Formats: sequence, structure tokens, C-alpha cells
Amino acid sequence: MYISSWPGLTPHQFLQRHSDEGLPYPLNAANRLSFCVARSGIYHLFRALKFKKEDIVLVPDYHSGNEVSAIQAAGATIVYYPILRNLEPDLDALSRLAKLNPRVIYVIHYLGWPQPMKEIAALCRQRGSILIEDCALSLLSEPNGTPLGVSGDYSVFCLYKTLPVPNGGLLVQNRNCLGELAALKLRRCPQTTAIGRSAELALEALRSRADLIGGILFGIKRAFGRLLRAADVRQVPIGNIGWNIGDVNIAMSSICNTVIKRLDYGRIRRKRRENFLHLRQKLEGRVTMLREDLDEGVCPLFFPILVRDKHAVARALWRRGIGAVEFWNEVRPLAERASGPEAQYLRAHVLELPIHQDVGPSQVEYIADQVLRLDLRAA
Ligand SMILES: Cc1ncc(COP(=O)(O)O)c(C=O)c1O
Repeated sequence: MYISSWPGLTPHQFLQRHSDEGLPYPLNAANRLSFCVARSGIYHLFRALKFKKEDIVLVPDYHSGNEVSAIQAAGATIVYYPILRNLEPDLDALSRLAKLNPRVIYVIHYLGWPQPMKEIAALCRQRGSILIEDCALSLLSEPNGTPLGVSGDYSVFCLYKTLPVPNGGLLVQNRNCLGELAALKLRRCPQTTAIGRSAELALEALRSRADLIGGILFGIKRAFGRLLRAADVRQVPIGNIGWNIGDVNIAMSSICNTVIKRLDYGRIRRKRRENFLHLRQKLEGRVTMLREDLDEGVCPLFFPILVRDKHAVARALWRRGIGAVEFWNEVRPLAERASGPEAQYLRAHVLELPIHQDVGPSQVEYIADQVLRLDLRAA
């Protein structure tokens, strides 16, 4: 059995008719800009806001590193606020830090679960701060009917984490539109990057259905990738943790627009929720879950569990064909010193299990069986 970390790309997705329903937010947002990756949108947003060194941005201490690099590269100064073990901000600490009159309060919605936006928006109003919602991990999540990303002045999304597209990040301007952003000129994404990642996604889909043949083709694709790298063919890294100022003007690939128009978003949200609930029922009381709640409309990116030795458990699951994901191992040295104990705990112990739209009921059962066979003493 093979269960990929991310949804795969199939010919069916190109042959499907355009959906008549129209696209959901943010894909239908009036003022949206697309980039190859979301970190470029974050960088350009902070540049367009004309940040100076003395302008403070309050950023959660639990973060990927890509958003932090982009904000700092645009010239802003970051002060971290603590995230608690339930993935929500410590609102008392955030209120205390807001007395610094930050120019921006930056909010990350983790894995589809919403942050307490009413309280944070009130704080922004009180302090005159700009509210930015980072929904890189929360595309299609609309708790109780309101999509994440609509309350902020600006919001950012990562498309390729939830959808079977080779790249794609969106920046949405919900209120003020910045002239500087309208004037941006982006370069085409190199074909080798779009084709290479699309081929990988197609092979992931094949391997999830026919492990042996998919595995062989994957090996061939990897060897081909090594050849391209040896020949110094330009590739833009997608899905990595890293920062390259030279990549900030690269556009989303046109293939993404083709696929985006053909997806069934209701089904994607429904499948992710069904898989989450199925796995929750299988693991209940036997594994420590990070979040057990799933309000109406929440679209989970993964099923997060807490384990003592996350690297060892991830390796064991990969050996069994399960694409467990480790968010986030990398941490920038300065952020590490500024991280509270809860963020450090999350970095050390959260492991993400795949429950995306391509995962079927028998695969959920397999994941549960394999997880329960491991020594998963609570963290
Ligand atoms: C919370 C968060 N924000 C922003 C990003 C940047 O996304 P991208 O990889 O599309 O640049 C990521 C991805 O790593 C993320 O996890």
C-alpha cells in the first residue's frame, strides 16, 4: 500500500468539465494575485506596504520559516507571540504585545482550524494594526460558512498543499488595493519546474493505485531529475523551506489555472472531513490527537497526532508506505530563541498523517492499523 502525502494529478482532472458552480473563495476573490509560491506574495505585500525597520509585525512563534523569511526580506522587524499547544494564540500575551502598536498582526490558521478572529480583529482595530491572515495551510476551510481569509485586510494562500497543482500561491486584497502590487510584472515559471512537479503528482496518483509500477516509474523520474540538476537546468523549489530573493517574481504556472477550473471543491472538502472523522474514530483513545474537534466547514489539511519521537515514527510510517509529514523541523536560529515552550513542543512532537481527497476508506483503515502497531507513547 502506498499513501502519498499530497493529492495526486490524474488525466481525469484535465478531462473533467468546468464546474458550473463557480470557484470558491479565494479562487474567485476580486482582488487576487497569483505567484509560483505564497512566500513571494507575502514578500511583495510587505514591500508594497513600505515597511521600515522600526515597523513591527507580530508573528506567531510557531511558523514554517518561509513566511518569516519573506517578511524580513521586505524590511520589517518581527516580534513573536506565543502559540499554545492547541494551536491557538495566547491571547493575553498577544494583547500585551499589541501595546507595542504593531503595524501588522500576522495570523496563521494551522491545518484548516480557525484562529479566534473576532478577538484578533478587535485588537487590530484598537491598535490601528493591519490584519494579515496566512491561510497557506487552510485553503477551502470555511468554519460555519465563513471562508478563512475574509476577515483580514490581506490574506495569503498556498494552492499546491491542498489541490493537485504543481505550484501556486495567492495574495488577496480584501479591502485596500495597493498600487504597487497592480504594477508588478512577473516572469513565467520555468517549464521544467511545472512539468517536473506535475509528473511527480501524476506518479503519486499512479503509485497510490498501483504501488509497484508507480514505484518503478518514480525511480526513473528521480534519476531524470538528477540528470537535469547535473546539467544545471533551472528548477524553482516548491514545497521546500527556504528563501531565494531571485525567485520572488515568478508567476504561477498556467497549468494550475487549467486544473483549478476543473476541480470539485465540495468533494475535496467533504472527502477530507470524512477521512478525518474516520481516522479519528479508529484512533480515539489510543493515540494522542492534537485536535479532535472539527466544526462544520473546517477543511483539515492533515490528521495531526502527538508522538514522542516524531522522526522515528515518521520513518516507520514511510517504510510502511504512508507519507507522514513533519511540520516543521527547520527553525531559524533567532526564532528558536524567541520560541515559547509550547511552540518548541509542537515542533518536536506533531506528526501529520495524510487524509487528503485521494485517500480512500481502505487506506484510512491501513493508516490506523499501522499507526496502532507502532510504539506511540504520548509525547
Ligand atoms: C504557514 C505558512 N505560510 C506561508 C508558507 C509559504 O508557502 P509557499 O511554500 O507557497 O511559499 C508556508 C509554506 O511553507 C506556510 O506553512
